[in-house]
Amino acid sequence: MASGAGSNFEALVRACRQGPLAATVELLVVNRMDCGARGRAERLGVPIQLLDHQLYPSRDDLDRALIAAFQAQGVDLVVMAGWMRIVTPVLIGAFPQRLVNIHPSLLPSFRGLDAVGQALAAGVSLSGCTAHLVAAEVDAGPILVQAAVPVLAVDTRASLAARIQVQEHRILPLAVALAAARLGTSGIEGQQR
Ligand code: GAR
Repeated sequence: MASGAGSNFEALVRACRQGPLAATVELLVVNRMDCGARGRAERLGVPIQLLDHQLYPSRDDLDRALIAAFQAQGVDLVVMAGWMRIVTPVLIGAFPQRLVNIHPSLLPSFRGLDAVGQALAAGVSLSGCTAHLVAAEVDAGPILVQAAVPVLAVDTRASLAARIQVQEHRILPLAVALAAARLGTSGIEGQQR
């Protein structure tokens, strides 16, 4: 699931195709056709489905459409790779322990929108990113992997976000493998599945 540039989506596809993640990305769902993730999926040959949130009367209705899309593909695990909509217990309940989110802060600090700007405004000297299982509360749930990134005096939102994204691309495939391992499938090539 992606709403933005799709760099985390691409990192996941590459981790599946070039190792070490023993998985395949069956579908990308976007909520806006003009998002960067779409072009990446086309280039990478991953099927795309548009679910425009504006066409659904409620968050629950959008989540029901997401569930139908994922079930049609028979997916085992769902990743919110920059999905900028709040999900409901409807989606979370359909994929218990199987819904992973990536967020650009060291949770539980700086939940919600503009986490990088929040970290700069707070003056912290260390920020980073968190991959976690999704719970009903926004940007919360059992933490799978975190990476810390120093905040430099010269940092702008863009420079800090760029360094955090390098770490996101590293930890998100690890988090997917860990989530799979918790379910009893290793997700890592070379290990028993
Ligand atoms: C990522 O930095 C991700 O952590 C953030 O959106 C960005 C998407 O980048 N997600 C959130 O803020 C969710 N609360 P991408 O489209 O290049 O992967």
